[in-house]
Amino acid sequence: MVGNWSNLNRRGFRMVGNLLSRQAQSIKGMEAQGQATDRLIVHGEVHLSLNCLHTKNKMASIIHQNIWDTDPELFELMKKEKHRQESGLEMIASENFTSLSVLQCLSSCLHNKYSEGLPGQRYYGGNEYIDEIEILAQKRALEAFRLSPEEWGCNVQPYSGSPANFAVYTGLLEPHGRIMGLDLPDGGHLTHGFFTANKKISATSIFFESMPYKVNPITGLIDYDKLAEEARLFKPKVIIAGISCYSRCLDYKRFREIADENNAYLFSDMAHVSGLVSAGIIPSPFEYSDVVSTTTHKTLRGPRAGVIFFRKGVRSIGKNGEKILYDIESKINQAVFPGLQGGPHNHAIAGIATTMKQAMLPEFIAYQKQIVANAKRLCAGLQKYGYKISTDGTDVHMLLVDLRPNGITGSKAEKILEDISIACNKNTVPGDKSAFNPSGIRLGTPALTTRGLKEEDIDKVVDFIHKGLLLSKEVSAISGPKLIDYKKVLDTDAGIKKKVAELRQQVQEFSVKFSIPGLENRSHHTHDIIVTNRQSIELLSCMGC
Ligand SMILES: Cc1ncc(COP(=O)(O)O)c(C=O)c1O
Repeated sequence: MVGNWSNLNRRGFRMVGNLLSRQAQSIKGMEAQGQATDRLIVHGEVHLSLNCLHTKNKMASIIHQNIWDTDPELFELMKKEKHRQESGLEMIASENFTSLSVLQCLSSCLHNKYSEGLPGQRYYGGNEYIDEIEILAQKRALEAFRLSPEEWGCNVQPYSGSPANFAVYTGLLEPHGRIMGLDLPDGGHLTHGFFTANKKISATSIFFESMPYKVNPITGLIDYDKLAEEARLFKPKVIIAGISCYSRCLDYKRFREIADENNAYLFSDMAHVSGLVSAGIIPSPFEYSDVVSTTTHKTLRGPRAGVIFFRKGVRSIGKNGEKILYDIESKINQAVFPGLQGGPHNHAIAGIATTMKQAMLPEFIAYQKQIVANAKRLCAGLQKYGYKISTDGTDVHMLLVDLRPNGITGSKAEKILEDISIACNKNTVPGDKSAFNPSGIRLGTPALTTRGLKEEDIDKVVDFIHKGLLLSKEVSAISGPKLIDYKKVLDTDAGIKKKVAELRQQVQEFSVKFSIPGLENRSHHTHDIIVTNRQSIELLSCMGC
């Protein structure tokens, strides 16, 4: 099996890992007796080089040693983070636990390579395999969203979602070109042009002129009519259809009509929902958009990275019947590099390639359906307890709880839930006066669903959240309205501390029952941080990778 490590499944990795540990023990024994050890291990059909093992001779230099030996201080923190991830309920809607395969890409030799430029046109040598990996990632990205290479191309190099979006504007617009995106407090993203009365916050509002559109403060739904009206006045060159906190499907057809009316590009940022789009369970932006961007680490469950898809071919038919072609491919590619970025992160691009392969599997589609089923169950459960959900429900992977009727602020809710090991984020709700004191919390199900939670498990999560929020009211009654006093009560009131600790223990006991890809090993010996991944790193170095 030499050189064929890629065929090992998770169990295989574990078996080989155990084999490596056993062999390491016997090598130590041999070394102690002064016997030569730098030979291949032969065990059944598995032949592994000893380069990866911790021998006295070969591992003298720090660059060959394990992190727990070279930097125990950092390693301790990593272990604590692992424990936090395992023992808590991750409900931040933009987070997920990526797959073991992606973790293996991220910790591979691909990280070492510089490859500025695109496949076939690099500024450095030695990129023959990197080229193949990037081409594979591009091809699979199109396939995962059922796109024809005649009509669409893509760039898989953006380091993440924000650089991807900035590259889109840089490619499509002149400095100070006009954009319209959903306002941040209404569920848009910073990179859709956020600014306040006092400050241009996002670089997308510093270097471009942005005008927000809003949701209806009563229904919480995007006010398309108002967007159309204001677009007529502002005449944007790019209209952005994309959300960070909005629990309903977008009307891409309507966006297209408004864009057409203003001869604007329709740019859809599907970062949050790209997994659902790939699985075909919510409407796709591709039919109506000129450009689509996504992160790959949210519902798509891949590496922390970004992808930009751009149209090719005919954009429109001119007055005399002539074909007007899209000319955005090179503009966007050049905006990514050399405009904004340097060397691509090849380990992440490999992660994108394997994520897109996973996205085409029935298992992935089932996962996406379960995310939505869990979000709907979460929503129904909270509604049963009387909580107000913005837009009265969800079509996707998240929901927004409006806590104004409960007399709790988003910050207080976020804090108490964090104290009981439930991670979520405070969020503005439609009609909020201040973005700095938001009245809601955003809850998402992608990460919990990856850990295997089903609807009946979500019912338990609902109970935990409800108990946490009831406790929040109790704390508030003691502390009064100020967050600082509220935190003080949480830190000092013995009765409250006891209740919080009890609830946290219940949440943690529940949470550890569900595994996390790549972090399954729960034996708490020193090296258990990313055991499977460590073995994979060792295997990769074994195979000369
Ligand atoms: C809609 C949307 N676009 C872009 C981004 C930015 O992604 P990143 O954090 O990877 O820069 C986010 C992040 O949450 C997002 O929600």
